[in-house]
Amino acid sequence: MGRLIIEGGVPLEGTIRVSGSKNAAVAAIPAALLARGPSRLENLPNITDVAVFADILRALGASVDWEPEQGVMVIDPAGFCCTEAPYELVKRLRASYYLIGVFLARFGHGQVALPGGCDIGLRPIDQHMKGFRALGAQASMEYGVVTVDADKLEGSTIYLDVTSVGATINIMLAACLAEGRTVIENAAKEPHIVDLANYLNAMGARIQGAGTDVIRIRGVRELHGATHAIIPDEIEAATYMLMAVATGGRVRVTEVIPKHLEAVGAKLRETGAEVREEGDTVEVISRGRPRAANVKTLPYPGFPTDLQQPYVAVMCRARGVSVVQETLFENRFGYANELIRMGASIRVDGRTAIVEGVEKLYGAPVRASDLRGAAALVVAGLSAQGRTIVEGTYHLDRGYAAMVQKLQALGARVARED
Ligand code: EPU
Repeated sequence: MGRLIIEGGVPLEGTIRVSGSKNAAVAAIPAALLARGPSRLENLPNITDVAVFADILRALGASVDWEPEQGVMVIDPAGFCCTEAPYELVKRLRASYYLIGVFLARFGHGQVALPGGCDIGLRPIDQHMKGFRALGAQASMEYGVVTVDADKLEGSTIYLDVTSVGATINIMLAACLAEGRTVIENAAKEPHIVDLANYLNAMGARIQGAGTDVIRIRGVRELHGATHAIIPDEIEAATYMLMAVATGGRVRVTEVIPKHLEAVGAKLRETGAEVREEGDTVEVISRGRPRAANVKTLPYPGFPTDLQQPYVAVMCRARGVSVVQETLFENRFGYANELIRMGASIRVDGRTAIVEGVEKLYGAPVRASDLRGAAALVVAGLSAQGRTIVEGTYHLDRGYAAMVQKLQALGARVARED
């Protein structure tokens, strides 16, 4: 198992470029299968979730040419014929459930084993199923496999009981080839939903309202391939912004969309950091220990749950006590124990963490158990005194492109052992 070795206590200084968005990438890649012709996806991040999805598409019969260094993937769905995605393929990432929407739209039936992904809660898919059923499909789940079947898909109005990113995307995928008009109410508004709608529209779909809580889709008979550049990863950018605050440094992240970083920027200002935006660059300047600031995770445009873990790592060394509420996933504080091993003072009560800032964290061997939890351990290690060894680098590889190189470019003393 790979590990990161971090000699902490160095304020990060310098400039890095953000990579393409993981969560936009893992929606766009299966979406390419909806078309009759090849698509070219650009600005994809060089992460394992993207590579694994490329393998899944190949196993389903599509031809995929993936150039990780260039971030370009050309997907030709001509040979796409298989409508079963077995557990061995899908267990490595959550987003493989987007294949259900794709199978339904293209073939009217399909089977997908319930997907893997980060262990951060129960993660039900009832809203996806509700959406498929509203479109006229039969959808069932037995023996860990989701089966969908439809003579034809017909547009419908679907009100999501919870604002779900995954359900919004899956229904969009299925509905763009359904007959008639679909309306998704209480839809998720995350940036990657807008990105996916832009890609699907470039393929000939007719989707309006993505980015608001009502999305309207007029079904079309066929989609064609298109070229699409994936948006920058706001979670990756924000993770480096948090690292600047954790280490009392100065970090510029380029090629971002500042609008996507508003919630985190506002929160970091509350902790005393200076956050400057200029064009497509954001700069965070921080001196000394941050001030404690409470946070509550919310769907976009609120403070993202994906930053809750690295944010708690920053609060561990804050002046004062912060209360961090996790409203989306019931089990996303698992990493707190590892932070406590580094000297942090954290109490977790259900979905709330109470973090009493300490002056120093101390390096220790720690083990990551999910992607953003791993990022939290890296944040803590960078700000700690002494050496931290983070085990489980494969979690980081799933979502952070070239993390060691980027950290080294910012002056961090970090090395990787595989
Ligand atoms: N939910 C239901 N029923 C459903 C679907 C969701 O009750 O049918 C609940 C979930 O249990 C959760 C809430 O709704 O409480 C939100 O879940 P959502 O469906 O929005 O999450 P997701 O689609 O499974 C995506 C990201 C996650 C990110 C969440 C929230 C991808 C591949 N994953 O997950 O990203 O945390 O949205 O923004 O896009 C990550 O990048 O580390 C990550 C976990």
